[in-house]
Amino acid sequence: YAPVPSLASSGSDGFLQCLSAAMPKQLLYTQSSPSFTSVLTSSVWNHKFLAASTVRPFAIVRPTNASHVQAAVVCGSQNDVRIRVRSGGHDYEGLSYRSERPEVFAVLDLADLRSVSVDPKAATAWVESGATLGELYYAVSKASKLLAFPAGLCPTVGVGGHFSGGGFGMLVRKYGTAIDNVLDATLVDAKGRLLDKQAMGADVFWAIRGGGGGSFGVVLSWKVKLVPVPPTVTMFILPKSVDEGAIDILTKWQEVAPAFPEDLFINVVIAKQVAKFQSMYLGTCDALLPLMETRFPELGLNKTHCKEMTWIQSVPYIYLGTTATVEDILDRSTSASSSSKSTSDYVRQAITKDVWAQIFAWLAKPDGGVMIADPYGGKVSSFSESATPFPHRGGVLYNIQYMNFWPAATDGSAQTKWLKDLYAFMEPHVSQNPREAYVNYRDLDLGQNVVVGNLTSYKAAQVWGEKYYKDNFQRLAMAKGEVDPEDYFRNEQSIPPFVASK
Ligand code: FDA
Repeated sequence: YAPVPSLASSGSDGFLQCLSAAMPKQLLYTQSSPSFTSVLTSSVWNHKFLAASTVRPFAIVRPTNASHVQAAVVCGSQNDVRIRVRSGGHDYEGLSYRSERPEVFAVLDLADLRSVSVDPKAATAWVESGATLGELYYAVSKASKLLAFPAGLCPTVGVGGHFSGGGFGMLVRKYGTAIDNVLDATLVDAKGRLLDKQAMGADVFWAIRGGGGGSFGVVLSWKVKLVPVPPTVTMFILPKSVDEGAIDILTKWQEVAPAFPEDLFINVVIAKQVAKFQSMYLGTCDALLPLMETRFPELGLNKTHCKEMTWIQSVPYIYLGTTATVEDILDRSTSASSSSKSTSDYVRQAITKDVWAQIFAWLAKPDGGVMIADPYGGKVSSFSESATPFPHRGGVLYNIQYMNFWPAATDGSAQTKWLKDLYAFMEPHVSQNPREAYVNYRDLDLGQNVVVGNLTSYKAAQVWGEKYYKDNFQRLAMAKGEVDPEDYFRNEQSIPPFVASK
């Protein structure tokens, strides 16, 4: 991490003094602390934000209990120092630890608030936001082989940011998103109060389940409902090249994947000239094969493709590679070895075969990236659009994530341009009015906040907000107005407090 000019204010001294009185000094890191850089970079997923020009915090606070978090918020608001909360640091735009514009801010890093306590009898768990998905899954599987939790694929993603935006993975068709399975939560609000579901009230509890991180306060922990899984699940990873009929198979996939029984999830990772079909089936290979033969014979699945295992074994298998072990999902280290840019779409009408042929031409370009298509339908689509802030429900066939990567030593301009151009090309083929996007695949090019008179402008935020939240955006802004009317928790894409005259 190359040094950048340090931003400081009188407030920053006051903040540190205030906090030193409230928590052990060794949990506070300033830019002059020898371990500041290693603490800051410990969970930076996107390498491009290690650049010298990145606006970084003047201090990092590593709370070990709730009162430290409360103190950080109180000291911050008293001294005019904003805090950004970091759980797993996987935000695509790095908003948990950097600012797009010059700003004096501190990072509240929740890495040491990561306990998971499972009640297998009740099939519930309390998980702290600083836990990773891998730590949550591991703890659940230790308590019971027949319970799981439906959330994302990558084990190093943090619970705090992931749940804040929705969170989906291979169980999404069977059990919905992570936030569809949240029963309670604890939140430190802008006044420093520690609130549970009842104390925060229905509007705020609704808002924190999918309304995006960094807007309503610091969510410390979540009570989740665990879901049943069978002793054996069947996985397969089946690549098909364009020469092997990938275009026809993908065209058919769009129709069958969102309509399969909920026990079957097949997504596609498309790069260069290959579509890689990846699947989890909640049952045995013998039960899966006849289903595939009737509904999707074009894929040509046979017994040799099936890998039967337990649900917890499927986690490393699908994300870390076929030789990884269950213990590997406990490794929290995020290797920020490459830089990336991502964005997303939702598809509500199947894309035609000739358009898929053009998409493969985009993917074949020298600086091309990857497209990941995740089918919905089933449970995730059964909720109303306003049940939670996550509005991508009935009628969505699948989500697309576009990603491009480049080596740390280069500036990524060619790869970023490829992504933007493909996104422009896709416009007529994806959801419209608004063109929906998934907040957890954060993209600042969709729009950024403007602050007017020390409050985030509602009007400016509508531009990106309605893409992420559709008609839920206004209700989110009203919840923000209730819990944080002075807009203490804000970033480039935080929810603005709704003020009727703005
Ligand atoms: P991070 O700590 O960076 O926080 C993200 C945002 O939430 C920031 O604005 C932050 O301030 C805020 N925040 C964090 N903790 C908070 C808290 N406790 N209270 C309030 N606000 C808080 N998604 C998905 O749905 N399915 C998937 O399979 C994947 N897979 C995946 C793989 C990889 C490699 C990456 C990088 C990302 C994904 N994602 C994903 C996207 C992921 O869900 C998204 O980036 C999450 O916001 C990451 O959460 P972290 O806590 O790691 O992020």
